[in-house]
Amino acid sequence: MKIGLLQFKPGVSVRSRKLPKDIKMLRNAIKVRGHIPKVLRVDKCQLYYTRTTPKLLYAGKPFPKIDVIIPRFSALENVALKATIVHQIEMLDIPIIQSYMSLVRAKNKLRTLQMLTEKSIPVPKTMVVSRFEYLDEAIRKIGSFPIIIKTPFGSLGKGVAIVETRRSLHSAFDMLLTSPDFNSLLIQEYVAESEGKDIRVFIIDGKVVVAMERDSQGRDFRSNLALGGEGKVVKLSGTEKEISLLAAKTLNLKVAGVDLLRSKTGPVIMEVNANPGLEGITEVSGLDVPGMIIDYAIKYKKSLKI
Ligand SMILES: Nc1ncnc2c1ncn2[C@@H]1O[C@H](COP(=O)(O)OP(=O)(O)O)[C@@H](O)[C@H]1O
Ligand SMILES: [Mg+2]
Repeated sequence: MKIGLLQFKPGVSVRSRKLPKDIKMLRNAIKVRGHIPKVLRVDKCQLYYTRTTPKLLYAGKPFPKIDVIIPRFSALENVALKATIVHQIEMLDIPIIQSYMSLVRAKNKLRTLQMLTEKSIPVPKTMVVSRFEYLDEAIRKIGSFPIIIKTPFGSLGKGVAIVETRRSLHSAFDMLLTSPDFNSLLIQEYVAESEGKDIRVFIIDGKVVVAMERDSQGRDFRSNLALGGEGKVVKLSGTEKEISLLAAKTLNLKVAGVDLLRSKTGPVIMEVNANPGLEGITEVSGLDVPGMIIDYAIKYKKSLKI
């Protein structure tokens, strides 16, 4: 089988030929299974519309024949625009394991909260604020400081901050308003009892593959491995497992990294990642997580033939 890896990250620079580590791990897993990997760089995919038909070219040539594609979607802004390529792939009936819709929804933290709460999946209490004069109401509703603020499209812990006082929140919000891209800010309760720890639940094809506790070791309130958090494998409670699987299913993600916090009133889901990092989870668990994704992609492709 020819298995495509749709790479959104431009590597070290746009011109760079160096592959991101996750793509390398997936490529390796494809080779080990006796299949052929093909890394597809999103900036080489060319959308083309004849007067009546959508087409797709790759680096000036017809799009290669690929049996199944694994998208590694990442974008900090213009998310829907950047994901358009995924939609075109779907339109051309090229099998791809994550849908355009699921990727766009998961990337948007507001949309994720909307869909999770619609299914009564617990999330941290959150208010979305777009105007300065609504800040104090949000503070009252959230309860007490410190509070967490988040941009709708952040990842790797970069769009998340902790704010200790009303004064800081007011000035930080004023600062954000100066950005022409500013649209809204999530104001969220700080789950203090999590103490810089969270749980990453890795899900493939409706099954929990492994759950990892990430701990910032007191260095930060954020536990992302990208910021120096350390991971260890943990056992999930029945409820944690159930809500994580339901969250992935609700967003229709076949591969998902569900982030949850253990609050004193039970688990709450912060976000669902459609492009969860592979390096940390593989190292911590000792499992061949990239291989499991490839096995799922092969299974998915085969299921289409029936
Ligand atoms: N409401 C919260 N209470 C306590 N810690 C939080 C809260 N929200 C986020 N965090 C911490 O910040 C980290 C990053 O937040 P998250 O919403 O997952 O954003 P990102 O997409 O950047 O990973 C989490 O892994 C967690 O450690
Ligand atoms: Mg996260």
